[in-house]
Amino acid sequence: MSARRTLIAGNWKMNGLAADALALAGGLAEKMKAAGDVNFDMLICPPAIQISVAVAAVQGSGIQVGGQDNHWNASGAHTGDTSVNMLKDAGCSCAIVGHSERRTDHAETDQIVKDKAAAAQAAGLIAVICIGETEEQRDAGKTLDVNGSQIAGSVPDGSTAANTVIAYEPVWAIGTGRTPTNDEVQEVHAFIRGELAKKIGDNEAAKTRILYGGSMNPGNSKDLLALADVDGGLIGGASLKVDDFWTVAQNA
Ligand code: PGA
Repeated sequence: MSARRTLIAGNWKMNGLAADALALAGGLAEKMKAAGDVNFDMLICPPAIQISVAVAAVQGSGIQVGGQDNHWNASGAHTGDTSVNMLKDAGCSCAIVGHSERRTDHAETDQIVKDKAAAAQAAGLIAVICIGETEEQRDAGKTLDVNGSQIAGSVPDGSTAANTVIAYEPVWAIGTGRTPTNDEVQEVHAFIRGELAKKIGDNEAAKTRILYGGSMNPGNSKDLLALADVDGGLIGGASLKVDDFWTVAQNA
């Protein structure tokens, strides 16, 4: 049994209105309260505008709430952005940074992701740092190279297991219904832990949670979550329905 506590994280992306956030967060909170002691941590990451609704809905359930992104500066002239202090103030404990959709839609580089992660950590948030190869890169045999260089470039120096979570998300598996084989997932996760050790030391790397993300669902989550170096999931589509997300969590 791993000392790393499984983290089941939902990335709602740009989905749902306030009523949906209330129903989803509230439905999960009811399940958590009814379940009592569980063997996993649960995190939900709503759109920024619905964080307050979600925080109120999960109160007393133990479910954590996180942002989907944050700016690297504490405040100032950054129209449309959200600061780490705003996330904290709203009741967040975590922030996702470097999701492939942000790397693509907003041209975020490893350096930007690293600065965002450092800002989150400095504010006392857990940075959930996303990495992952494209299909083209996998086909070219560059999967390990790409993930290794993203770890080197996106993880702040001095990161710890307490303030950092890594999410390995093959870009081609996100929202497609396709996933790597279990052996391929384990191979990349073990490699990532090794690369992380070069950056933050063996001890912290051994304690850091590495999530798998990309089409994780009620059907495949049991096998994925059982892999030695998979310490949870970052779940998009299947996190938008109470029963699906709860089933994934039950498979932890
Ligand atoms: P998916 O998304 O579960 O819908 O594939 C995962 C993610 O992008 O975090």
